[in-house]
Amino acid sequence: MTDADRRDHDHEHGHEHGHGHARDQGLSAAVRYLRLAPRMWRSEINEAVLEVVAPIAGERVLDIGAGMGPGMVLAAKAGATVTAVEPTPFMRRVLHGRRWFQRARSRITVADGSAERLPVPDGSIDAAWSINAMHHWVDREVAATEIARVLRPGGRVVLVDEDFEDPGHPDHERFMARHRDPSQDEDADGHGSGNETINRHGFTTVDAEEMGRLLADSGLTEIEAANQLLRNRPVISVTARR
Ligand SMILES: C[S@@+](CC[C@H](N)C(=O)[O-])C[C@H]1O[C@@H](n2cnc3c(N)ncnc32)[C@H](O)[C@@H]1O
Repeated sequence: MTDADRRDHDHEHGHEHGHGHARDQGLSAAVRYLRLAPRMWRSEINEAVLEVVAPIAGERVLDIGAGMGPGMVLAAKAGATVTAVEPTPFMRRVLHGRRWFQRARSRITVADGSAERLPVPDGSIDAAWSINAMHHWVDREVAATEIARVLRPGGRVVLVDEDFEDPGHPDHERFMARHRDPSQDEDADGHGSGNETINRHGFTTVDAEEMGRLLADSGLTEIEAANQLLRNRPVISVTARR
């Protein structure tokens, strides 16, 4: 998609892609993330996904919606050169701070961007992943196009969202207790822009097969899209190659 196409698309869809999800903005989001910080700093699901991605020394990799940077740190420690893409200013401040304390900080770049606007050149990335961030994406079709654009031929992508709504998830009870029904929420009407249902934390649950189709439509291959277990956690998982 050219910049002009993207501007038209943004205009038609009434949003600006570079800024991430509206619910990630402002003080209330910062407070929410601070409460989650102990679990977002060192995260088991990030460890599990990074084992799947398996970045190696010399690779150029992308953490899409890097949050507080647990994946970014693991990739840099493995010797990869990582760009942590994050649209939320509060999170970027955390990432910059965390980067500073890493021995491998020369291999880490923190960049303003989003899944819909990846701030790296075409065909420049060996591996990309996004963990617990897909449900924050504003436009999954544009995101799929962007991922296909930035991967080099043969490059891989791993997208994983934990399914906290699944009673089999170890954090299910805590999740249900923390989030009341979003249909009661002032700023969520229970539905996304299409017919998708907004789940209890106010974001749109991703359908694995639909996401797989979008990646296939963008030219990626070896698509594997499924609801499955990763480290005993139910996850929505989509992997592909360019
Ligand atoms: C629940 S956090 C997960 C962060 C991190 N990946 C982790 O596993 O801890 C979701 C992240 O997605 C980011 N985000 C919001 N909108 C986004 C978008 N359109 N594209 C990419 N990331 C986005 C948020 O700022 C937030 O840092």
